[in-house]
Amino acid sequence: MEMDTLVALAKRRGFLFQSSEIYGGLNGFWDYGPLGVELKRNVREAWWRDMVTGHNELEVPPGAPSAYEMVGLDTTIIMHPQVWKCSGHYDMFCDMKVDCRESKGRYRYDQLQGRWLTCKGKRIFVATEAVGEEGLADTQRKALKFFDLRPKAAEELEWEGDLTSLAPLTAFEDVLGPDAKTLGTLTEPREFNLMFETYCGAVRDEQNKAFLRPETAQGMFVNFKNVLDSTRVKVPFGIAQMGKSFRNEITPRNFTFRSREFEQMEIEFFCHPSTSRAWYQYWRDRRFKWYTDLGLAGERLRLREHAPEELSHYSCGTADIEYAFPFLAPGDFGELEGVAHRGDFDLRSHMEGKLIRQGDQLVVELDSEGKPRYRGSGRDLSYFDDETREKYVPHVIEPSAGADRATLAFLCEAYCEDEAPDEHGKPTKRVVMRFHPRLAPVKAAVFPLVKKDGMPEVAKAIYGALKPHLAVFYDEKGAVGRRYRRQDEAGTPFCITVDGQTLDDGTVTIRDRDSLKQWRVKKEEVLDQLQDRLK
Ligand code: GAP
Repeated sequence: MEMDTLVALAKRRGFLFQSSEIYGGLNGFWDYGPLGVELKRNVREAWWRDMVTGHNELEVPPGAPSAYEMVGLDTTIIMHPQVWKCSGHYDMFCDMKVDCRESKGRYRYDQLQGRWLTCKGKRIFVATEAVGEEGLADTQRKALKFFDLRPKAAEELEWEGDLTSLAPLTAFEDVLGPDAKTLGTLTEPREFNLMFETYCGAVRDEQNKAFLRPETAQGMFVNFKNVLDSTRVKVPFGIAQMGKSFRNEITPRNFTFRSREFEQMEIEFFCHPSTSRAWYQYWRDRRFKWYTDLGLAGERLRLREHAPEELSHYSCGTADIEYAFPFLAPGDFGELEGVAHRGDFDLRSHMEGKLIRQGDQLVVELDSEGKPRYRGSGRDLSYFDDETREKYVPHVIEPSAGADRATLAFLCEAYCEDEAPDEHGKPTKRVVMRFHPRLAPVKAAVFPLVKKDGMPEVAKAIYGALKPHLAVFYDEKGAVGRRYRRQDEAGTPFCITVDGQTLDDGTVTIRDRDSLKQWRVKKEEVLDQLQDRLK
């Protein structure tokens, strides 16, 4: 499936629109349409139900070291600025950027690639943001233009191998930037903080500066004590939260994959340090299974352990759950969720102040006067176990998922083209979104076969009876075959049709989206049948 095909379907059927499209759109921002909003809500609700409300704290789940509790939170998007200073985001939440003096473009240093070539006695490096085949084609196009050659003269370009990263280059004077016409227009790489800034109150000065949260996680750490004091939870337990996060990404791209405003679904799981490795493994596997249970399967999903050099300065282990999105080069995967073993870094940072690694220790970073660079809250965020009488700072395992990335992966996975008989019984191409029934935006559609003979009245009564229980859709316009096709494109698992026989014996047909099988049931049994099959 080409990404463009999915993007077109998403717009045509109301899954996703570009934000502020009538004004030309705003890069990195996306709106969910009528079908998209239901799909994303179902993703979020499945996560909340499976991780929080549906979790049975009295049983030991398969693979878990013990039983555990789960609670939820909903914290603010704007938090005290000190939160971001102690967490490290204020100083360290940066990407390296490269600017182009000619085109005024701004690029992520780690995403620029290119190829060396020689032509007309000159050796240059042609840079591109594109990857794979597209990257090769893009560099070829740019090189032809730069050397003023026609496509026919492409053999005059002597390429040196495949696309490589810009990173090993120490100087850029021979580099042709992605949108430049001349050489040497790219600046040195510089740090760029990704947090959006704003001001609280009427005075726009440094004192009142605040940040839109770049992750939901900090809301859980700073409320650790509140949760302990207001509930009867005991370690091990997890706090879950979902909500908007904001990152001023340098190059938002690939549909919703890298957006500037997006939604996260995060768990901070607190455990005793001696069991943290076992909990890390549990959460890694538990979260992987969540995606496979909801239909992401096969070779497009993988679990990748980070190599030690990839780990953040505080992390003792991280694994990414990754999906082979169609916009990536063959063999490449994009992150859906990170599961990180964060040790006691976060709780200690909010107690003591911003931490840095010194050897194998985390110590408070000091300023030139030997005082903490960013002071912590000074609150005691340790845990007292009244059975063992032990006091300790719990370790944290963090499964951190993106609701938009998960929704995008479910959209990509669902897209399918096959053949089905049209209204004349002739096999024709069919586009069908094979969503897992739990995620499907509409669960069932109700049709009268024709708009006469009392069929609409019966169909409307069935629709009315289903509506309080399920997301259902009523349609009586056009040929029934066309109506089925529209529901297939929306990913509706079942269609219920009222026909001539219904008027005689009170039965209707139920059609299955995937197998195309149809069977008859009594109209009073439709709800039970659907609820059974939607589980
Ligand atoms: N608290 C840890 C944390 O925020 P992260 O890997 O930066 O970790 C977690 O983000 C998840 O949030 C990612 O796996 C991804 O699903 C989602 N995410 C991060 N940046 C995103 C962006 N710019 N657009 C969409 N989703 C994003």
